[in-house]
Amino acid sequence: MENKEEIIADIEKLSSDGRGIAHIDGKVTFVGQTCPGDKCKIKILKENKSYNIAELVEIVEKSPHRVKPFCPMYNVCGACSLQHIDYNYQLELKKTIVEDSMRGLLDASIIDDVVPSPEIKEFRHKIQYPVRQTQVSKRILAGYFKPKSHDIVNIKYCPIQPHICDEIMEFIRENAPKYKIEGYNEKKHSGLLRHVVIRVSAKTGDNLVVLVLNADKVPERVKDFAQLLFDKFDKIVGVTANLNSQKTNLILTNKTIPLFGKDYIEETLCGVTFKIGSNTFFQINPKSAENIFRYVKDYIKSNYTKPTILDAYAGISAFGLVMSDVASEVTSVEECKASVDTAKEVKKLNGINNIKLYCMDCEEFLADKTDKSYDITILDPPRKGCTQKTLDSVLNLTKSEIIYVSCNPATLARDLKYLTDKNATVKSIRPFDMFCHSPHIEDVAIIKIN
Ligand SMILES: C[S@@+](CC[C@H](N)C(=O)[O-])C[C@H]1O[C@@H](n2cnc3c(N)ncnc32)[C@H](O)[C@@H]1O
Repeated sequence: MENKEEIIADIEKLSSDGRGIAHIDGKVTFVGQTCPGDKCKIKILKENKSYNIAELVEIVEKSPHRVKPFCPMYNVCGACSLQHIDYNYQLELKKTIVEDSMRGLLDASIIDDVVPSPEIKEFRHKIQYPVRQTQVSKRILAGYFKPKSHDIVNIKYCPIQPHICDEIMEFIRENAPKYKIEGYNEKKHSGLLRHVVIRVSAKTGDNLVVLVLNADKVPERVKDFAQLLFDKFDKIVGVTANLNSQKTNLILTNKTIPLFGKDYIEETLCGVTFKIGSNTFFQINPKSAENIFRYVKDYIKSNYTKPTILDAYAGISAFGLVMSDVASEVTSVEECKASVDTAKEVKKLNGINNIKLYCMDCEEFLADKTDKSYDITILDPPRKGCTQKTLDSVLNLTKSEIIYVSCNPATLARDLKYLTDKNATVKSIRPFDMFCHSPHIEDVAIIKIN
């Protein structure tokens, strides 16, 4: 097959990163922006030993599941790579992604249908826009990076986030230059405003705005600008500055300075009120997250009477705090001090007395607790999953079941294989859609210790 040749291909399924898969001369070929059921003209861009990468040239016959993307920026932004696929079919495809990850490991009949997100527009409650400026007119640009680049798409309207975020961002674009606040220049590591982060409460609609500055202290002009911003929007309850003068891709540092109003918003999940600060880890789709918490809580309530629970990789102990009233005692472990401090405040705010909060590395904490045991362990690690040492400790310390919450089917499959090889049994996997229109999927696996 000659390179750059245009070929007609049938898209058969979706890969775990959201690209369509066709077979060309028997070889797997990935084509972005396609939908299973499409017949299309494609061009091979790169041939590897076991797969090709191709681009879509033209759709010859549309899949019945194709829809018009509702976002005007769909073609340039890349954040919602599945928006051309109808939502119910997106859910079916995501279930297939989970099934494919678990193939050979467990019976697909224990994988439930994907629980849809309660909202498929305006569901995203954490916004992180990089900020740059045009070279000549010095206009502020803010939005998302184009896929695989650091070129900004200047997003004026994003339908997956609350509309007020567009208004706040437009106000910043128009008014920051009046206060001599320049957008960041990544190449020269110059310019003041690197990012704007907005946290929005799904419960109250309140907003916390974080101005991420390439500076070691907050200049007076930023304080004046923050006051203007705070006064302009009733629904902004706080403005903070985050100081980040390092040459890094990391967005937020742990140096946050409150400027006006509060330095947090309040969010309520399953009756517990949480405080979310500038860099608190909290699920970006709170209503979908609430479905997960309710599912785990109902499961525990129906199958246990006041169990002891270990909440590992706890963040601000959202699971531990929500489960506390169906547990006799909860032990929470998290390595980030700011999150543990927030959890302490939330515990007090909600009058919860049966939770112990530890700020430690999970592996170290568990290795040290050989004399302890818990009826249930809730594991909610980052995308990379758990270490084998952590899984060994969890197997030793858990009396009855592990509830493993994962945002990465590949590492979940790896860890489930390790656990089942050690004689644990996976009872069920329930996927939840937290990140609509993207290929990401959250899973809750229930694992019995034998
Ligand atoms: C996916 S988040 C889950 C947070 C929380 N369960 C929730 O639902 O909000 C993973 C958390 O694990 C923490 N973490 C990552 N590695 C860790 C480690 N080795 N020990 C303890 N915590 C860790 C991160 O700081 C983060 O808060």
